[in-house]
Amino acid sequence: PMKMIIDTDPGVDDAMAILYAARTPEIDLLGLTTVFGNVPIHIATRNALRLAEMAGLDIPVAEGAAAPLVRDFVPSSRVHGAEGFGAVPALNPQREALRETAADFLCRMARDHRGEMTICAIGPITNVAEAIRRDPDFVRNVRKIVFMGGAAHVPGNITPHAEANIYHDPHALTEVLASGASVTMVGLDVTMQVLCNAEDFAALAVADPEHGGFLRDASVHYLDFYREIGQPGCGLHDPAAVIACHRPDLFETRPIQIHVVENGVEAGRTRPEAMGTVPAIEVCLGGQMDEVKALFLAAFAAGPDVG
Ligand code: BDR
Ligand code: CA
Repeated sequence: PMKMIIDTDPGVDDAMAILYAARTPEIDLLGLTTVFGNVPIHIATRNALRLAEMAGLDIPVAEGAAAPLVRDFVPSSRVHGAEGFGAVPALNPQREALRETAADFLCRMARDHRGEMTICAIGPITNVAEAIRRDPDFVRNVRKIVFMGGAAHVPGNITPHAEANIYHDPHALTEVLASGASVTMVGLDVTMQVLCNAEDFAALAVADPEHGGFLRDASVHYLDFYREIGQPGCGLHDPAAVIACHRPDLFETRPIQIHVVENGVEAGRTRPEAMGTVPAIEVCLGGQMDEVKALFLAAFAAGPDVG
């Protein structure tokens, strides 16, 4: 199985991604690291611990950045609700997070699993930038960094120019891209091509009352937001990034140099540049998105992974 750490700001679609990963035997989840974003950091950590418990995963959770590297962070409850899972009250977890910070944990795990560990970053990419700053060998030790964020050829979602994760910490992405790490971008170009609606979640709840039922309830508020912006369903952003890690064959990618706009009205924009100075990364531009959705739904229809 593929060794993976999910760096996350749970979040409704983060919950979908983590439960999907937990139920997929081809993925060996080594831990979760948390970051501010959809919710403030202490709520993100609590939610990550709860999701691990819910999924029956006895894995470490390390708390990370409370704020972006440079910009200010203003939390908003509009998309995911104040507690992260819409109107579903988040129960307090039984376990605690590690004493180690997310960045230190990422560095240590990358060292211990040299050349084998994939980081799937589904929130602002601050912790990964911190890990790169902290350990000169980190980039060499990590196998691959797959991040959900950005929009190469389509409009943004938090502003007309920017996707939310990158808007929240554009400087962090600049540092990750400059590091020369092997990076794949799973942005709105592909994640808005996989929409799930209320019927999909109702079917998940029938197939699996515990996890599917939780996702159905958590997604009500999230679907309301998408309806307000004229979409017939919610984007499977974060699950698509996890699927891009273990099923890259389902995505079409191109090597592209990405320039990150750090300030001003276009802050957070990820602009392709023909003659940029940064190394090219693999940018997902298309793929078999119906297959991606089917894979996501099938993970829940199959019942929990007991293996
Ligand atoms: C991304 O922003 C967050 O709201 C989601 O969890 C996802 O990671 C989509 O733009
Ligand atoms: Ca997220």
